[in-house]
Order: sequence, then C-alpha cells, then structure tokens
Amino acid sequence: MSTLNLGGQFTFPDISLTVRRMGYGAMQLAGRDGNKLVWGPPRDIDGAIAVLREAVTRGVNHIDTSDFYGPHITNQLIRRALHPYPTDLVIVTKVSARRGEDGSWLPAMSPAELTQAVHDNLRNLGLDVLDVVNLRSMFDVHGPAEGSLEEPLTALAQLREKGLIRHIGLSNVTRKQVEDGGKIVPIVCVQNAYNVAHRADDPLIDELEKQGIAYVPYFPLGGFNLLQSTALSAVGQNLKATPMQVALAWLLQRSSNMLLIPGTSSVEHLRENLAAAELTLPPDALKVLDEIASKTEAAQH
Ligand SMILES: NC(=O)c1ccc[n+]([C@@H]2O[C@H](COP(=O)([O-])OP(=O)(O)OC[C@H]3O[C@@H](n4cnc5c(N)ncnc54)[C@H](OP(=O)(O)O)[C@@H]3O)[C@@H](O)[C@H]2O)c1
Repeated sequence: MSTLNLGGQFTFPDISLTVRRMGYGAMQLAGRDGNKLVWGPPRDIDGAIAVLREAVTRGVNHIDTSDFYGPHITNQLIRRALHPYPTDLVIVTKVSARRGEDGSWLPAMSPAELTQAVHDNLRNLGLDVLDVVNLRSMFDVHGPAEGSLEEPLTALAQLREKGLIRHIGLSNVTRKQVEDGGKIVPIVCVQNAYNVAHRADDPLIDELEKQGIAYVPYFPLGGFNLLQSTALSAVGQNLKATPMQVALAWLLQRSSNMLLIPGTSSVEHLRENLAAAELTLPPDALKVLDEIASKTEAAQH
C-alpha cells in the first residue's frame, strides 16, 4: 500500500524531528466503564491494535498518547501493536494528571509525581527515552487558566537533562504560560482544545506559527461532543467529502504549524480521517465554515 502524503511534513523548531502533519491521537483506544470515560481496556483489543497498525502502515509517524488514558492501557496497546517501533515514529505523551477511582482527572504536577509519570510512560511504552513530553496544565482541567508552571516545567527540564526526555511541549495553556515556559526550556509544541467551531486560540496559533512552534489541537472533531453543523455537511456534500473530513481539512489549511491528532477506535474512521489530507477547501467553502465559529461565539455571549 502506498504511503499517503498526509498533509506534508513539519519539522519541530530547532530540532531534527520531522513528522507528517496528519497524525493520530490514541485516547479513544481506552475503554469505558459506565460514566468513567477513557477507562480500562477496550471491548475490542484486537480492533484497537488494528487501528494503530493501520495508522502506521498508512504513513502516520506522529502518535499522541498519555499514561493517564486507561490509565496505562493506551500506552500498553501502543507497545503491543507497534514495538519495536519504526525509526521515524514520534510518540508524544503527556504528564501531570492522575486518575481517581471514580474516573476523575486529578492534578499530579509535583516534581515527584512528574518523575514517576515519566518512568511509567517509559516502562509502558517500552522506551529508554521519550521523544516529546507535554506538560498538561491542571489549574483547570477543562481549559487554560493562569498560574505558574515554573516548578513542574523545571522538574521536566531536569529529567530532560538526565536524558529521559528529548523535547518538551505544553498543553491546556495560556499565551503567558507559553511565553514564560520558553524562558525555562525550549517549547516545541502546544496542545490545546481547538476546532472549526471553537477558535479561542486563533491569536496564539498565529504567534506560534511565527516562531515555528507546532500547534496540535485536541478535540479536532469536537471530542466527546462530535461536531455537528449544517455548514460542515453542506461543504462536505459539495466536495464529496464527509463533515469530519471537512473539519480536518480546515485545520490543515488554517496554518502551516498545525499538526493533527484526530482520535478514533475504528479503522474505517481512521482511513476517512487520513484521506482528509487530500482535500482542498476553496475560498467559498472557507467562508461558509467561518459562519460556524461566528455562531458558536454568538451563542457564548
Ligand atoms: N491535551 C489534552 O488535554 C487532551 C485532551 C483530549 C484529547 N487529547 C488528545 O487529542 C486526541 C484527539 O482528541 P479526541 O480523540 O478526544 O477527540 P476528536 O479527535 O475530536 O474526536 C474523537 C471522536 O470522534 C469520533 N470520530 C473520529 N473520526 C470519526 C469519523 N471519521 N466519523 C465520525 N466520527 C469520528 C470518534 O469515535 P470513533 O472511535 O467511533 O471513531 C470519537 O468519538 C486524543 O486522541 C488525545 O490523544 C489531548
């Protein structure tokens, strides 16, 4: 099978790490136990492994994960499906949260907890060094909130100096936290919630693009509340694409530093999502899609 172009390549700032812009987010591979989301093993373990192998076979070389998915399950699935890893595969993980017994997402930002998390990720992924580790701010689990990340970021920078981490990114952060963080350690990527309907990060994305820092939107398809919009459907119908493909193509066209990690537990959806990189949205489609964001903003005021 020929490898897809997947939106072309992106090289992280000042480092020789290059990935295809269309990647894969592994969170959806963990299971669910009642109200506990991203919890326990998936119902179909072979299916989850098939998704990971299909992604890599089709050229994906950027996989996003965390040891708090499951917890531990997603990393263990990645190891089982893909280890020994292809040399060009970049696995990006994140630290600073732990799961409560009730499935909640709790802060774990102390230096001791971060050190433990890095060792857990190394063990569960079967790696000696982690390519990229995102520090996920937990001042507010639901979105960026101001607060100093100096202590946790300094702890991660020390683990990097010890050779356990190659590069550091930030997640769920404000523009100030990115600026302040860059004074402690080079920041190679930022991972915040963003999609065609929720564009609060537009100024941050433009700023990061100038600096060559990757912006990696989570919930690119809406996450737990899948995007639904007549504009997406109408554009999709015109271009013979699905609404989800239109949402992903819009992100790829939004800026050159945008790396995509759509999540899915289905091989069929994976193929559909990867094919979105072949779609070009003409100006009139972009205009229609801008209406989605205006409506979302209006609804929030
Ligand atoms: N830094 C953070 O705080 C943070 C938070 C959340 C997520 N993440 C990362 O970001 C990645 C992406 O976010 P996400 O997975 O939560 O949300 P997402 O990619 O926006 O959406 C995933 C949802 O979309 C469905 N889906 C995927 N492709 C589809 C298609 N072609 N047609 C219809 N439905 C489709 C999936 O269901 P199916 O399984 O049925 O396809 C799943 O329910 C995650 O996997 C994770 O690695 C990071």
